[in-house]
Parts: sequence; C-alpha cells; structure tokens
Amino acid sequence: MTTTASDVLIEGKAKIVRQDTTAHQVRVIFKDCATAFNGEKFSEIPGKGELNAKISGMLFQLLEEHHIPTCFVALGESANELVYNNLTMIPLEVVVRNHAYGSVCKRFGFEQGMAFKQPLVEYFLKNDAANDPQITESMIQERGSLPASISLSLLERRALQINEIFVAFFEARGIRCADFKLEFGVDAQGVLMLGDELSPDNFRLRDVKTAQVLDKDVFRLDLADLIETYQTLLKRMEAPTKLALDQPRTYWAQVFVKSRKNILNPESKAILTSLHNVGFTSVNGLQAGKRFEVQIEANTMMAAERQLLKIAEDVLSNPVIEDFELELGLSGGVS
Ligand code: CDP
Repeated sequence: MTTTASDVLIEGKAKIVRQDTTAHQVRVIFKDCATAFNGEKFSEIPGKGELNAKISGMLFQLLEEHHIPTCFVALGESANELVYNNLTMIPLEVVVRNHAYGSVCKRFGFEQGMAFKQPLVEYFLKNDAANDPQITESMIQERGSLPASISLSLLERRALQINEIFVAFFEARGIRCADFKLEFGVDAQGVLMLGDELSPDNFRLRDVKTAQVLDKDVFRLDLADLIETYQTLLKRMEAPTKLALDQPRTYWAQVFVKSRKNILNPESKAILTSLHNVGFTSVNGLQAGKRFEVQIEANTMMAAERQLLKIAEDVLSNPVIEDFELELGLSGGVS
C-alpha cells in the first residue's frame, strides 16, 4: 500500500502511526532503530522493526485469546507493520514488576533480581522533557489524566491480569518475565483497551536457568547482538506450549456497594439525623454503604472478574439505585 507524508498521524522514537483507509483504524510501522536512556543512546538496527512487530502481534493475540481487550486488529501488509483500532491514549506508562531490575533498584534500593512478594504496579507520566516522572494516584486525579469512564483501580487490575498471562506464557518457555511497561487507551465507546506495543523493548525477560538477557538490556548495556537476541526470543515464543492457566486459583475481592449520588437511602438519612441530634451539625452529607469480602476460585483473574461483576450486579447491589466498585487480587487479602 502506498503512503504519503500527510497520512502520518504520529512519529515516535520506535514507531510511525499512519491513518488506515478504514476510518477508525491505524497502521503502525515499527522502526529499525533502538533508543535508550531517553534517546541519549541511539542506533539504526536493520530488521528490528520486523521482529518487534511480530513479537508484539503474537503477544496482543495471546491477550485477546484470554479476553483482554486490546487495540490489535491484524498483522499488516508489510512484516514490520500491525493494524490497530485507533484509541485515545491515556498519557501514563504502567509498569508491572515481578523481579527488581533497572530504575526500581536505584530508586528504592532493592537488590537486583530479587523477587517481589507480589507483583508491583507503578505509574509514570508520559513526558519526555521531564524524563517520564513517577506519578501518584492523587496527582493523576489532579491532572485529570484518566478518561471519565476509567478508574485507576481498573487500570491496576487490568495490568495485573495481563501480568498473570505473560508470566504463565514465558514460564512455560523457561523464561522469567521480570518486568514490562504497558500503555492503555479508550475506544470511541470509552472502553479500556491495551495499546502501544508489546516488544522486548518494553520487557525484561531472562532465561530461568542461565539468566541470559532476552530483552533491550542487551542494547542498553552492550551485552549482546540485539537482532540475534530478539530472534532467539521469538523462536522460543513460537514453541507450541500449553499455558499453566488451566489450574484454578483462589482470588480475593472486595465489593463496595453504595447508593448513587443524590440518592439518600433510609439508613443514611437515619444516621445523618442521629448525628445532628447529638450535636454534629457540621456533617451535611453521608452515604452509608456495604463492603463484601469474597473468595472465589477461577483459572485467571479475568475469569474471576467476570464472575464477580455478575455477582455484584445481580445479587450484591440494586442496579437501579446503587453503584459498586471492585478490588481484586490473589488470595491472601481476606482474613
Ligand atoms: O529500564 P529503566 O531502568 O529505564 O526503567 P524501569 O522503570 O526499570 O523499566 C521497567 C520496565 O519498563 C522495563 O522492562 C523497561 O524496558 C520498560 N520501560 C519502557 O518500555 N519504556 C519506558 N519509557 C520505561 C520503561
């Protein structure tokens, strides 16, 4: 397909995004260059774009098979190209860590390679000029970085669900998935979708037995040839292996149910009146709610979430007058 300079929507360090002939789709071209340390280190590496497109395409398809909504539509016409649904991107980098490497060791003094007790999720603001600073929940709210339909707890849950699938996928191939970075967006309906790319540029992947580096650290730290490394990784990824996600695990959840805004339920009204009667007249609003702790068996966190949404909607809340929020994690949260 021919392209013109005018159909380029964005050109970044690693990719060019072009408008597709289908209005709501874009073509993403993975470039043959590697950058590190916020662009300070740069190299043209022929063949890298193709490998990154192939690996990203495989991982997007893996997530889709496990019901995680992503931007991925199809492989492109050229080997270095993928077709995506166009998303409005959220300007955050969501980093998931299972083992300590890179900046987290420098910032918090963790010993390199140590396993965290549970996966950690960190947020960074996308801002090259400020070196992508780490950002807190209250700062995300202050800056209005999230679309109205998306909460930070949904973003965290989705990142952890994706982590579960990646850990199982790489484990089955003798590879430790130590950390990775995700970027999310929303579609025209406001639905959360995974965007950006899923290439070894955005992961730390290590051979379980030999600790061989299978990611962009080979380029950052001049450890080995990048193309040979990414080819080795791709070959191992292509090996047909069954994922260990068919074992049921116990998840815990908390479901918070409360009345919709502007609906004062009888219990809230009675508590508010009592407070006023005993002299707390400065309280002029109160919303009583319920909290349920639930333990649930499922094969994946995504399957647990689907069951819980149904339980919360059909049984734990009254959808006409109440809203609910969900928190979900691996077993250990409920006493
Ligand atoms: O790699 P570095 O020390 O700069 O940062 P990190 O916070 O330790 O990175 C955690 C993970 O996110 C690594 O797998 C990085 O490759 C990835 N990452 C990325 O893909 N893009 C960034 N701008 C920052 C991190």
